[in-house]
Amino acid sequence: MPMSALAPQPSSDPVAAFTACHDRIRRFLDGLSRIAELPDLADPRVPEAAAQAHRYFAEGLPLHAADEDDSLAPRLRRVVPESGQLLDELAADHRAIDAVLATLLSILQAAADGRPVSHASLRADVTRLRALLLPHIAREEEVLFPLCAALSPSDRLEIGRELMSRRR
Ligand SMILES: [Fe+2]
Ligand SMILES: [Fe+2]
Repeated sequence: MPMSALAPQPSSDPVAAFTACHDRIRRFLDGLSRIAELPDLADPRVPEAAAQAHRYFAEGLPLHAADEDDSLAPRLRRVVPESGQLLDELAADHRAIDAVLATLLSILQAAADGRPVSHASLRADVTRLRALLLPHIAREEEVLFPLCAALSPSDRLEIGRELMSRRR
């Protein structure tokens, strides 16, 4: 069997790929909440949990936003021109989410390093992030993803290729 037969193939179903990312987002948000709700951040499980959360929100989540803003949105704008305002609002959400992450990531890094962090600040940032991200991904699932039915097979394949190359 040639090696190329074993190489990962790009997904031809961007909605399935995006939905899997949303499941991951919900899981990592729940993980963040579990850290934030611990009675004491001196808990020995905190550094590893904070390091995992930091890795996902510093690396995984921005890739997902780029998938939507740079791979999906331009193609959707072409085939569903009336999606423009929705796509602008979702991109603005991504920037608002980045702004919360800027402070949350520094708290998570400190917690991962075993440095003291403000429990109140961590709780506040986790609450803010959940309040932005959960309605955002729900809106994408309810309003954005159904519009993807209008994408051509070649658009879907190109989106799948871009998602893969973003993760090389
Ligand atoms: Fe998004
Ligand atoms: Fe999304």
